Amino acid sequence: MNKVLVLNGPNLNRLGSREPDVYGNASYADLVSSLTASANELGMSVDVRQTNDEAELISWLHEAADSKSNVILNPAAFTHYSYALRDACAIVTSAGLKLIEVHISNPHSREEFRHNSVISAVATGVIAGFGQNSYLLALSQLSH
Ligand code: DQA
Repeated sequence: MNKVLVLNGPNLNRLGSREPDVYGNASYADLVSSLTASANELGMSVDVRQTNDEAELISWLHEAADSKSNVILNPAAFTHYSYALRDACAIVTSAGLKLIEVHISNPHSREEFRHNSVISAVATGVIAGFGQNSYLLALSQLSH
């Protein structure tokens, strides 16, 4: 079974009510159910998690490396400044696993501080700007 860890950083538990003009009306629960349904169709399984805690997110990336799971990661605001998270992502990709960085919005069309990602250089690829479909596109990419 092709198992994928889908990891979400801070404030993404607030999807649906958080800045709906930027992040849409779909909730975090909607994200979990659409990923689960899509994984079923693709013959995959997903373990979808969210945390507001940088240390917990780093531990989950270590777990991905140890269990040899590919990762879909929305690092949220950590994208822009967390070198510790970047180093944990590098542990995953240098182990030969895939890590796709995803964003609901297109950070490049937003405030200047969002234009830089410290994660992208150690990710396998980046998908941004397609709402919650960014995650489904990443999942489909990991299915082949
Ligand atoms: C985000 C973009 C980040 O800049 C922001 O801090 C988030 C969400 C996105 O999915 O569009 O929390 O990662």
